[in-house]
Amino acid sequence: MASILKVDDINVYYGSIHAIKGISFEVNEGEIVTLIGANGAGKSTTLNTISGLLHSRTGSVTFMDENLGKIPCHKIVSKGLALVPEGRRVFLQMTVQENLEMGAYTQSGKAIDQDLAHVYELFPRLKERMKQVAGTLSGGEQQMLAMGRALMSHPKLLMLDEPSMGLAPILVEQIFEIIQNLHKEGTTILLVEQNAAAALSVADRGYVLETGKIVTSGSGKELLASPAIKKAYLGG
Ligand SMILES: Nc1ncnc2c1ncn2[C@@H]1O[C@H](COP(=O)(O)OP(=O)(O)OP(=O)(O)O)[C@@H](O)[C@H]1O
Ligand SMILES: [Mg+2]
Repeated sequence: MASILKVDDINVYYGSIHAIKGISFEVNEGEIVTLIGANGAGKSTTLNTISGLLHSRTGSVTFMDENLGKIPCHKIVSKGLALVPEGRRVFLQMTVQENLEMGAYTQSGKAIDQDLAHVYELFPRLKERMKQVAGTLSGGEQQMLAMGRALMSHPKLLMLDEPSMGLAPILVEQIFEIIQNLHKEGTTILLVEQNAAAALSVADRGYVLETGKIVTSGSGKELLASPAIKKAYLGG
């Protein structure tokens, strides 16, 4: 399997706070890889560093054989790396369809219509609400919109920061179903979650982050079955 993303020994600081302490991991083409960990473990910091919003003091991030170190974050998106940030930021004053079109700025004309059709097929709820202003969508619908918008840029790697946060169980289930459907279509996904049970059950591989360090890694199945993981992250 070809490696699409390689994070090698990155160290990230906020002032004097050492948030990421030398972590390394890889995502291969077609995989779902999950990064799980408690509040403050460094999950968002890791994704924000990969997308160029933060910078690591050492080490490197390689995406499709290119070192992202010196590349500004808007260029990183056009290279095929999309982040759906924590808290699902959508343009609240714009309609669903306008939000999706904003995500398509790397595409043109006919391609956009096809992409819209594809996103509406994945998220029928968005189709029903295409003219609705995003600020009036429910939290779960806004999450779907944020994911749909990221997909409009045809990412080679889709990074999701806690897509299930704050959603009712039925919507969590729907979001994870959609993640699995994207996986079946061949989308490569890096998924950050506190909901370890759900994340590990869809992931090919996972890494466990504790206070800025990777402490365990393995296949989704292995991690789900591990007594230590069960105790720390799966409620028993
Ligand atoms: N802007 C900031 N300034 C200072 N410290 C920060 C900043 N952002 C994050 N941190 C610290 O860095 C550490 C990692 O934070 P991060 O947001 O990456 O955690 P997380 O794993 O995403 O947590 P959560 O599950 O709560 O979203 C935490 O100790 C946090 O307090
Ligand atoms: Mg976070």
